[in-house]
Parts: sequence; structure tokens; C-alpha cells
Amino acid sequence: MSQRTLRLAARPLYLGLVVLAAAGCSAVGWDWDTKMSTVLPKSEFGHMIQDLFMLISWITLAIFILVEGALLYCCWRFRDRPGAPLPKQVHGHTMLEISWTIAFALILLIIGIPTIRVIFKTQEAPAATALRVDVGGRQWWWEFTYPALKITTANEVHLPVGETVAFHLNAPDVIHSFWVPHLGGKRDVVPHRVNRLVLTPDTPGEYLGQCAEYCGVSHANMRLRAIVHTKPDWERWVANQQAPPVEPADPLAQKGKEIFTQSACVGCHTIQGLSGGVLGPNLTHFGSRTTFAGGTMPSTRENLVKWVEDPGHMKPGALMPNLGMKGEQSQALAAYLLSLK
Ligand code: CUA
Repeated sequence: MSQRTLRLAARPLYLGLVVLAAAGCSAVGWDWDTKMSTVLPKSEFGHMIQDLFMLISWITLAIFILVEGALLYCCWRFRDRPGAPLPKQVHGHTMLEISWTIAFALILLIIGIPTIRVIFKTQEAPAATALRVDVGGRQWWWEFTYPALKITTANEVHLPVGETVAFHLNAPDVIHSFWVPHLGGKRDVVPHRVNRLVLTPDTPGEYLGQCAEYCGVSHANMRLRAIVHTKPDWERWVANQQAPPVEPADPLAQKGKEIFTQSACVGCHTIQGLSGGVLGPNLTHFGSRTTFAGGTMPSTRENLVKWVEDPGHMKPGALMPNLGMKGEQSQALAAYLLSLK
């Protein structure tokens, strides 16, 4: 191979290294990426996976060093030198073959036993005292229902720290996958069946998640947040969600409420005491959420106006139709929705 061919062949390699460097190091990269780390576990489930990952990493590192060391040593020791005789030729070595077969079987056992233990641990049935949260994976947003607390919300799931939560996962449309990397898991959300994910968050904070199974045009816009609270904060959140929606004080928001009740909004959305649609997210406490549109947009007046005027532009493929809202109408609707704290 000529020098030029070598240089040309190396180009894709350099490019690959640059891409890896840019995409791989989550600790120093993009904010979204940092917050989706799988190696900073914040639940007992996450810690179990992390411990397993570290065990396997250390074992494979030791194997890598041993094998590559032996290879490099042999390349150097038995390299061709002028006038050197041919090294001793070996064809089969029974002892060596038996030993490495046993050694590898042992390594598989060392990796296999804790792996199987973790698989069973992470599939255990939840205790009756676990907080049940029904997760609906929808095109393209998440619905969270707390049956015992009679709370329904969307895209932002609130949890108390130190308490076991049992997610019951189901999808009314196509297959999705529920994944909050910090909390561990990633479990498919499948139509006509209920998958479970049981975990106990151990650190308060906000953890980002993402649908991890291709589910159509806005799959990438199907994000979520898990907000883990201290006990007092959790109780405050529950009390607020259980309260009926507040009456808007501001005249623009009052106008928005009128528009909401008189338009097609009521057919798809529930606002407690006002409407009972179930095709779109429950909006009873919409203003208490930090994001909307599959967790992709911060809940600001400006974003909401753009959303009600043209949902498909903000989230391609959005099932919410364009209702032809304009000007003051969309301003009023946005004001009303944000008033629903
Ligand atoms: Cu839902 Cu991808």
C-alpha cells in the first residue's frame, strides 16, 4: 500500500474519532445529554445496573490487558530478525486448551451469576404499598395517572424520594419505550399489555427521559421529566394537583376559558369540572407544568401561542388539529392555560 492510499484510508478513521469525541463524552457535552446520563444512578434500580456494569467493565479490562499484552509480547519476542531460526512450531496443546476453556467458563459464571440476580431483582412484583403510577405512552406525549391519588398529568411525573414506585406501562396506540436514564430501566410500553417497572428514587432532583422506541414521526419529540421531591414538597404537589382548577382572575384568561369551552378543545382535553376529553393531555393543572408538547417546549406564553396557532409546526405529526386560532384568541387561550396552576 502506498503512503497516499494509507493517508486516504485513515481519513474516515479520523472523522470517526472526531464524531466519537463530540458525541461520546456526556459529562462535558450538551446539556440535554448530561442530564440523560446512565452512569450517575439516582435510584436503587440504577445502582444495581451501574454496579453490574462496573463489575463487567473491570473484568473485561483485565482480559483486554492480558490478551493484548500476550499478543504484543509474542509479536516482539518472535519477530523476524536477520539470521534468526524459525521459532518452535506448536500444533495444539491439550493442557493449555483445557485451562483456557475452564478459565472462560469461570469468567462467564462470575459475570452470569450477578447478572441473573439483577435481572430477577429488577423484575420483582411491587409491594402492595408501592406508589402506583399508570404510564400511557401516546403519539407523542406521556400520560401519568396516579389511581390512588386521583391525579392525572402529562410529560412530567412527580415522585417522592425514598418511596418505591410501580410504573404500570401501557400504550393505547403503538409501541413506545419508557426511559429515564438516571432512574434506570428502559422498558417497552406495548399496546394490549401492561409492563411493570419498579424502582425507588434515592435523590431529589429533575431527571430527563425520552421515548426509546421508534414510534412515528415525532418519536424524538416524546420526552419526559421525572421530578423527585422531598417528602414535604411531594405532599404540596399532591395537594395542589388534587385541588380543583383555579378560576382565572385576569380578564384575558377569563376570555381564554370561554374560548376553550366553546371550541373543539373540550372534545380532546379534560379540565376538571369543565370538560372530559381523553384524547389529549389532561390540562386541569397545566400551568403547574414546566413544559408541554411532549416535554419539548418550556411553558411560556409565546410558545403556547405558537402551539395553538399551528401545533404541527411545533411538533411534526402532532395529532392536535390546527383550530385556526389567531391573534387575541390564541393569546387568551395561552393566558388561560398558564393560569391553571
Ligand atoms: Cu414514543 Cu418513540
